[in-house]
Amino acid sequence: MSGGARPGPERRPQSWVGVDPMLGSVVVTADEIARRVEELGAQITLDYAARPPLLVGVLKGAFVFLADLSRFIELPVEMDFMAVGSYGAATKTSGVVRIVKDLDLDLSGRDVIVVEDIVDSGLTLSYLRKSLLARGPASLAICTLLLKTGQQQASFDVDYVGFEIPPDFVVGYGLDVAERYRNLADLRVYVGGEPE
Ligand code: IMP
Repeated sequence: MSGGARPGPERRPQSWVGVDPMLGSVVVTADEIARRVEELGAQITLDYAARPPLLVGVLKGAFVFLADLSRFIELPVEMDFMAVGSYGAATKTSGVVRIVKDLDLDLSGRDVIVVEDIVDSGLTLSYLRKSLLARGPASLAICTLLLKTGQQQASFDVDYVGFEIPPDFVVGYGLDVAERYRNLADLRVYVGGEPE
């Protein structure tokens, strides 16, 4: 393939989006996401030059972000996945976090970066952080694509943030409502009520 724009699903029209009444305004465009993810990848490449990290993706929401981010990290990273639940199908946190799928790899002595889609109340990450620190990693950093401003009930440091966004419920780029909208290229406000 010769030069020019990088191919990808974000270049396709996604015409079904315009006729879905549950989808509101665009919060972050696919192009803005692509540029920022590239910057985050470059920063992580610099920060971890001598110690290629283990990326821990938090399923399911972070799968798109992790796929893109990892390809902008110019290091031989390894990856593993965890699934945690706190929301079920609803759009408000239940405050109860549980591990639905645990990691396959041992974290001891590893430089770990947890890759999250969004930090809202912070309860999920606060729980995850404690649970992963207990496994003896050499270091543990957190990278989230989105941080909802002013919502955090738990305090901890987030090392890499893609975008700070207002506290609306958003979908797209991996984020869902009841498993829908993960394949939207842009991030949009969800204007529907609680799913059935
Ligand atoms: P927290 O524990 O309140 O920080 O919520 C974190 C998790 O809730 C994220 O990993 C998402 O799975 C989900 N979540 C929070 N806000 C949103 C949103 O606006 N859209 C989709 N999922 C969200």
